[in-house]
Amino acid sequence: MNSNPKHIAMIMDGNGRWAKKRLLPRAVGHVKGAANVRSIVQGCTEHGVEFLTLFAFSTENWRRPEDEVSTLMDLFIQYLDKELVEMKEAGIRFRLIGERSAFMPSLQMRIEKAERETSQNTKLHLTVAANYGGQWDILRAMQLWLDANPNTPLPLMEPQALKNYLSTSDLPDPDLLIRTGGESRMSNFLLWQMAYTELYFTDTYWPEFDKVELERALEWFGKRVRRFGQTDEQVLAGN
Ligand code: FPP
Repeated sequence: MNSNPKHIAMIMDGNGRWAKKRLLPRAVGHVKGAANVRSIVQGCTEHGVEFLTLFAFSTENWRRPEDEVSTLMDLFIQYLDKELVEMKEAGIRFRLIGERSAFMPSLQMRIEKAERETSQNTKLHLTVAANYGGQWDILRAMQLWLDANPNTPLPLMEPQALKNYLSTSDLPDPDLLIRTGGESRMSNFLLWQMAYTELYFTDTYWPEFDKVELERALEWFGKRVRRFGQTDEQVLAGN
């Protein structure tokens, strides 16, 4: 039985369908979804999870209708305004990964403030991926590596060396990915970082993914045998 994961990554999918099923506008689904973030962050701290990384907005999400994009940006601002005090009290360190320069200045300002004012916290590292894409992260890391190693040919780069240039360089790789909303894909999330992550997919829409559902995912994770390329026998022998 594995102990609880140290790092959980989540793709919070199904807000729109949750709303549609209730004949409500998609925006209502996002409002419910944002409210749910708080309860899942709490659930993670209760289970001793140290790192939680949430996919809030992908580089592809700009293609959504303008009013939906603006609802998501407003919700992000509201979340930071409402939760900063709570995060500070609860020992949560907030960080954002992704290309933040595309966000409106009022949002960028709040992100920087939240990062600054929670920078000394260690109980839970909450990382929000926004305007983030796994391919963007890998290409950016490669460029940074090439800038730092101008005379070394790329094939000589060790995978571990690239890790130091990814936007998650100071986070361990995720142990568990939870994706809600019934789809079984990675959607350009932490592609490099999830090479050995256990993948958990549930049909539950994100607004309904509560602490009980989280416990179910943790229980499933507890039963996984993590081989990291080895055989069952080697793992059992503790090699
Ligand atoms: C996927 O549902 C969800 C998103 C693209 C946005 C996730 C955002 C939140 C949960 C709210 C804001 C987050 C924070 C951290 C404050 P979907 O719209 O793709 O749903 P669908 O697949 O049912 O249409």
